[in-house]
Amino acid sequence: MCPDARRASQHSRQPGDTQQATTGADLIGRKPEEALLQSEERFRLLVESVTEYAIFELDTEGRILTWNQGAQRIKGYRPEEIIGQHFSIFYTPEDARGGRPQRGLEQAAARGRYKDEGWRVRKDGSRFWAEVVIAPVRDAAGNLLGFAKVTRDLTDRKRQEEEIATAEERLEALVEERTSELVKANERLQAEILLPRRLDQLVLLQLVLDRSPIACVMNDTDFSITYWNPAAEQIFGFSKEEALGKLPYETFVPHTARAYVESVRERTAGGDTGANGASECVTKDGRAIFCEWYNTPLKDSAGTFIGYLSMLQDVTERKRSEEQFRASSEQLRALAARLQSAREDERTYVAREIHDELGQTCTALKMDLALLVQQLPKNRRRAHERAQSMVKLIDDMIHTLRRIASELRPGTLDDLGLLAAIEWQAQEFESRSGVKCHLALPQAEIALDSDRSTAIFRIFQETLTNVARHANATRVNVRLVGDAESLTLEVTDNGKGIDETRASAHNSLGLLGMRERALLLGGEFNVAGVSGQGTTVTLRVPWAG
Ligand SMILES: Nc1ncnc2c1ncn2[C@@H]1O[C@H](COP(=O)(O)OP(=O)(O)OP(=O)(O)O)[C@@H](O)[C@H]1O
Ligand SMILES: [Mg+2]
Repeated sequence: MCPDARRASQHSRQPGDTQQATTGADLIGRKPEEALLQSEERFRLLVESVTEYAIFELDTEGRILTWNQGAQRIKGYRPEEIIGQHFSIFYTPEDARGGRPQRGLEQAAARGRYKDEGWRVRKDGSRFWAEVVIAPVRDAAGNLLGFAKVTRDLTDRKRQEEEIATAEERLEALVEERTSELVKANERLQAEILLPRRLDQLVLLQLVLDRSPIACVMNDTDFSITYWNPAAEQIFGFSKEEALGKLPYETFVPHTARAYVESVRERTAGGDTGANGASECVTKDGRAIFCEWYNTPLKDSAGTFIGYLSMLQDVTERKRSEEQFRASSEQLRALAARLQSAREDERTYVAREIHDELGQTCTALKMDLALLVQQLPKNRRRAHERAQSMVKLIDDMIHTLRRIASELRPGTLDDLGLLAAIEWQAQEFESRSGVKCHLALPQAEIALDSDRSTAIFRIFQETLTNVARHANATRVNVRLVGDAESLTLEVTDNGKGIDETRASAHNSLGLLGMRERALLLGGEFNVAGVSGQGTTVTLRVPWAG
């Protein structure tokens, strides 16, 4: 049977003739065999009697060709009302306008199957949730004859799904609500637990501030005092009531310190947490005191600057004692310097007296004795021997007197200068101690005032004495070098090496004296030893004090 003939037969069916409703089998072609006819009939009856599904055929344009019981039950149309109508009647106006029915047919034709779910409209206008499957019907040559459409009413399932979704939403909302209630309850609980703790901390803080011996003063951003602890009351004499709301300049900062305090204030407001210092303050009764202070910017939890915290300590007494100590140290140093120079003057005087007076006298004595010897008769052999021994004694005395005078104050130092004096002293030391002395001195004489020359020479002497007494050395290196600013003397021995504790001991008077002499000249003195290797004494003296 050709497709056109079949279509003609389909259109000839009477609307409303539900028993006549055909299935897709009609479209495929009628077989001549009886058995086949029977089977076809059974299939038609089967489709016809299905009530769960709307099963119907459409022509290639989408017009309804057949209608089963299920279709009638689900959509509400009787066959005679619907056959021949376009199937877009079942779609909502929006879907129909949007071309959904046509798209269904096109996709079914193109892909062999089209499946869709959505709202559809019954005859009475009510809507139901439909699951739709459209399949193309083709002849043996593959030509499109029409479509088979199966629709299932899933409204109940949809409703159930929606109910479940709504229930889930409600549940979620409930869980959310309960969770937020729990969070709030937890916060309340935390607050109840934490508040006393916070209060404890506040009480503790208050206690610390109240008992602090340090004055704590807070100011707002305009610098007005907002906090004044008992130590502040005690140090400055202003009560809390008198201080609060006032500016520091109206209370404890004197006008003389205002510019300085303002500069510190600016630094602190700029975030500088290290604004520490000391300045003069004034008490309520007008007493000038000296305070050390530490300033910190105050910030809230968001980091916004909200004021200043100053912690102040009255250090007037300490400052006074420090000044007194400094003054007495200076006095002592001046006294030591006086003593040194008096001692040096005395030594110079005594040395000169010994050299000039005693030396002259001895020489005169020697000359007189020589005259006496000349006048002695030749035969007085014993008298001559006595006189010879007297001359020798006088010579020894002259020699001893010269040595004593030199030791007291070497004439070389005054007559020939520091370099010659150092050379002379080194020779003396070498010949007396047997310790080799190597000198490295500047070629040209150095211009130094007498105080400096004397101090350097005396320190050199004392250092060599220490080497001889304590070092157990075999060699000493002496180096004197000058640069633009200062002169440096370095004496190194190869002895046992001074140990650290002795080098810095307060009762080492020899070293202390050397250090003092260096300080008086504005210089530095240092002793360092390496055990078993030796000791180095370094003296640096500026050219001018
Ligand atoms: N060159 C050195 N080598 C090793 N030890 C030394 C040297 N110079 C000093 N000392 C040690 O340092 C100590 C302190 O020296 P310091 O000159 O102050 O005192 P002193 O020589 O003992 O006594 P004085 O007051 O008579 O000088 C010495 O007792 C000695 O132990
Ligand atoms: Mg000594």
